Amino acid sequence: MSIQGKNILLGVCGGIAACKIPMLVRILKKRGAHVRVLMTDAATKFVTELTLATLSQEPVQKDIFPGGYSSREDWTRHISIGEWADAYVIAPATANTIARLAAGMCDDMLTAAFITLRPKKPKFLFPAMDGEMSGSATVRKNLKWLSENGCRVIEPESGSLASGQCGAGRMPEPETIAATIEETLVEHRSRFLKSKSIVITAGPTREKIDDVRFISNYSSGKMGFALAAAAAGRGAAVTLITGPVQLKTPEGVRRIDVENALEMDNAVKEHYRSCDICIGAAAVADYRPADRSAGKIKKSIETMDIALVKNPDILAGFAAQKTSSQIAVGFALETEGNIGSAREKLDRKKLDLIAYNTYDGKTSGFDVDTNILTLIGRDGSIDELPLLSKPEAAERMLDAIEKLLNSDE
Ligand code: C5P
Repeated sequence: MSIQGKNILLGVCGGIAACKIPMLVRILKKRGAHVRVLMTDAATKFVTELTLATLSQEPVQKDIFPGGYSSREDWTRHISIGEWADAYVIAPATANTIARLAAGMCDDMLTAAFITLRPKKPKFLFPAMDGEMSGSATVRKNLKWLSENGCRVIEPESGSLASGQCGAGRMPEPETIAATIEETLVEHRSRFLKSKSIVITAGPTREKIDDVRFISNYSSGKMGFALAAAAAGRGAAVTLITGPVQLKTPEGVRRIDVENALEMDNAVKEHYRSCDICIGAAAVADYRPADRSAGKIKKSIETMDIALVKNPDILAGFAAQKTSSQIAVGFALETEGNIGSAREKLDRKKLDLIAYNTYDGKTSGFDVDTNILTLIGRDGSIDELPLLSKPEAAERMLDAIEKLLNSDE
C-alpha cells in the first residue's frame, strides 16, 4: 500500500521538532506523494522556507495575504489548497497553533487550510512541546475538542527534550509519521466504497460462427479482475461479469460468467438499478455473426462471407439510462487514436471517466501485466499515469472514482 499520487498538505509550526520536517518531506516525496508545505512565521525560525520549498518542489505558503495578486488564483489560494489536499498533517503542532485551530481562527494559510479542507479528508495533529506545556489544562482541553471533531491527535512520545528534561513531548520520527499517514489513508481508502455496489465487465466476448468457432480478441481480463480485487479490497460489493478468461476470482467478488456480448449485456442490465458504479473493462466484440450455423460449417467452398451485425454497446446502454448519482467508467484502447478520440468517446457514451489506454502490445494493452493509462474526467481533468502494474493502475482508477463520488456529494 502506498501514498503514491496522494496530495499531502504539511503544516509546520514553530517548535524545535520542525528540524525533523525536511526529512519527512523527503520520505513522502520518495514514496510518490505530492507535498505542499504551509508554515507559521515562528516555524521559519527553526527551518527555512527555502529548504522545504526545495525538497517539496513547491512554493511554501505562509501568509493569507501574500501580496502581489496577479490572478484569481491568488485571491482564493486558501480555498484551493484545502480542496487540493487528500490529507492534512500538522507537525509539529505547537500549543499556540493548537489553540488557534480549536478556536477556529484562520489568520494565516496554515490555519485557514484547516478550515477549507474537504470534510471527509483526514487531519493529523502531531503535538510536540515540553511535558509541562503538553499537560496544561488549556492544551488538554483544546486537543480534546479537536480530536472529538474529526482530527487525529497523535500524542508525543517520551524521550529527552530540548529543555534538557526527559519526558513526554517528543514528536515521533519522520518514518513513524509517514507510516501513520500511510495507514490512515489506506484505512480511509477501504472505507469509502463500503456501501457501494460496483459492476465490472471484464475479458473478451466470444461470438459464435458455428458450434466450434468464434470471433474474439486477445483480452486476458487482467485489468477488469485487478479492478474487481481493488474495489473489493476497499469494501465495495463487486459483481464481476466476465467473458471466458483463465483467471482466479478475486476474494470477496461475485462472479458471473458469460460467453458473448448479448449475454454480458443482459447480465449488466440486471444491475442497472442497483449498482452505484459500472466499469466497462471488457473488450466486447463490436460485431457478431448475423446467423449462427448449427454444428461445424463444412469446408466446401473457396471463399466464405460471414455477415456481421453490431453488438449493443453495453456501457453506453448503462450510461444512457443512469441516474445522476450513478457513475459510468470506460476504457478507450487506441492503436492509432489519441487523447482526443478518448475524450470524444467519453462524451459520446456519456461517461463520467474514461481511461485512455495506449497500446504497444508490450507494456500496455491486452494480456500484459502493466498498463499506461490517462484518466480523463467528465469535468475535463486529465491525469497521465506512468507505466504501472494493472493492480496499481486499478487503485489509481478507484482514487479517481472516489474524487467523482466526493464531488457529487
Ligand atoms: O467503443 P469502444 O469499444 O472503443 O469502447 C470501449 C469501452 O466501451 C470499454 O469500456 C468497453 O468495455 C465498453 N464497451 C461496451 N460494449 C461494447 C463495446 C465497448 O461496454 N459493445
